[in-house]
Amino acid sequence: MEIRSDDVTAVSPEEAHERVHALALSTAGHPAVRNAFYELWMAGPLPAGHVEVVARNYLERVRRTPDRIALAFLSTTDVAARAEIVANLSDEMGHGDPARVHSVILRGFFETLLSRLRGHPVRLDDLTTPLLPSTVRLVEQSEKLFASPHPQESLGALLAQEWHAYPQLVFLYEGVRNYRDLFELTEFHEACEYFYLHIGATEKEHKLQALSTAARTCRTTADLAHLERGFTGYLELLADNWAELHRAVRPA
Ligand SMILES: [Fe+2]
Ligand SMILES: [Fe+2]
Repeated sequence: MEIRSDDVTAVSPEEAHERVHALALSTAGHPAVRNAFYELWMAGPLPAGHVEVVARNYLERVRRTPDRIALAFLSTTDVAARAEIVANLSDEMGHGDPARVHSVILRGFFETLLSRLRGHPVRLDDLTTPLLPSTVRLVEQSEKLFASPHPQESLGALLAQEWHAYPQLVFLYEGVRNYRDLFELTEFHEACEYFYLHIGATEKEHKLQALSTAARTCRTTADLAHLERGFTGYLELLADNWAELHRAVRPA
């Protein structure tokens, strides 16, 4: 059913939760989650130069995750929603420990992997690998969605971010296993902490938080329309980014 953004018909909390949950579940079949990049990434190891492209572009987006969550905090005034958003932000920022910040742990992983692939120490900041246009667009446009004057649009984007994250981390980790032979067994699992902390618990909690945060702020049909716009907008930016990344690293 088409939802009009000027329709102020009231929706009950139960109906809002049901509608938002259905939207969240639709993430599983979206090209942001089902795509050729993940298939290629999981099928076998890529050359070091291509892993560098993946690392540079993926880290650029992950590095800005706390900014997006902070914008969602600013866009809503609902106290319960804000409290849940702060819990999410605290996870991303390592609960106040700079060494535990998620993007710091991810950077460490990519630098370790690339150093093994190259056979010498690699620092991501020293690479000249360019950012893809869709990565730049994803960072810029998603911050507009998260900073929307309509809190529901911002929380819709947050819902998309948190619901696509779990399968994303599972697929990326499965691909990372293609490089397992570059490590001792225990060393490999130690290096994969970024993936385990997300697959283990963090993203499951974020999914539930984002769902209740989004549902509690939808009181009319128009609110649901704003939510859906933010949700779809963010997923489309992600899908475009994975598609361009796939074109950049697929075999010629
Ligand atoms: Fe994270
Ligand atoms: Fe998350």
